[in-house]
Amino acid sequence: MMSQHDSLLPGPLVFQPLDPAAATRLSAVQEEILYLKRERNAVILAHNYQVDEIQRVADFVGDSLGLSYKAAEADAELIVFCGVHFMAETAKIVNPAKTVLLPELAAGCSLSDSCPAEQLAAYKEANPGLYVVAYINCSAEVKALCDVICTSGNAEKIVGRIPPEREILFVPDQNLGQWVARKTGRQMRLWPGSCYAHVLYTVRNIERVKALFPCAPVVAHPECIEAVRDMADIVCSTEKMVAYCQETPADTFIIVTETGMMNRLRREVPGKTFVAGPTDLCGCNDCRFMKMNTIEKVRDCLRSGGPQIELPEATIRAAELPIRRMLEWSR
Ligand code: 13P
Ligand code: SF4
Repeated sequence: MMSQHDSLLPGPLVFQPLDPAAATRLSAVQEEILYLKRERNAVILAHNYQVDEIQRVADFVGDSLGLSYKAAEADAELIVFCGVHFMAETAKIVNPAKTVLLPELAAGCSLSDSCPAEQLAAYKEANPGLYVVAYINCSAEVKALCDVICTSGNAEKIVGRIPPEREILFVPDQNLGQWVARKTGRQMRLWPGSCYAHVLYTVRNIERVKALFPCAPVVAHPECIEAVRDMADIVCSTEKMVAYCQETPADTFIIVTETGMMNRLRREVPGKTFVAGPTDLCGCNDCRFMKMNTIEKVRDCLRSGGPQIELPEATIRAAELPIRRMLEWSR
């Protein structure tokens, strides 16, 4: 039942289907980006959480797993990575001879920050013999300390490949780790990190939207807390959200993840309506780091050739192994 307090909370943002007749003319900045991209032999990779203007000039828009494969396969000279720092680092690690640009170098990630490499190194030293699985949302230095990387799209598969006699430490996301532990039945030690944006979703807020759209399936990211995941019809990576909304015969979906996801869904699932999972603060949920990249910064980085991702050789070598293992195991 709605309380008086609930009526003061922001209503969910509703994203109606795109009008197929509406013109999708590119702005002057977008035109310049496409010109510079050809000129510099660049490829633009964009995460699903980027703003629509950026997604529309990208060569590939996807989740962390898809972007890792695209970065590894890229034959362009320059990779412009529109996402956050750990994603651009991953692109550099799997393609060290290439120049990787991140339009806004300060675009970090609260989840990545919750597991500093020195703390992980100290924990491993105090607890020898652990098999360390790192969610890709971590720094290159943390990746260098791990046995295998996973994303939300392949975590179940990756954990399923680890010999049963090995004890697992899962870093840095306790929510994803808890979800994978439940799916695989594997006990794991969980690092106490979380995504500041996804933990803003509450049961009460999702119940408020369910009351407004009772027939709409709830689609949630595994970085949400367990009580919210338990309310969802499906818990999955951002890439799987697209396939689920395409294949499920409902016409409206409640999407419990970052707002940029709606851009991809509206383009690739035409005719359907997407309702953003609200928080106590807003009718949708933007990741402040993802939104540090702007279309102007994408143009500027192509103009100037910076800011670039730079990593010590030794870190690249050590971090490449667990990333390659993931790419191989999840084929
Ligand atoms: P995906 O790998 O599902 O795209 O998630 C990335 C992310 O940062 C979620 O917060
Ligand atoms: Fe990191 Fe969360 Fe932003 Fe994803 S949504 S980049 S996990 S802070």
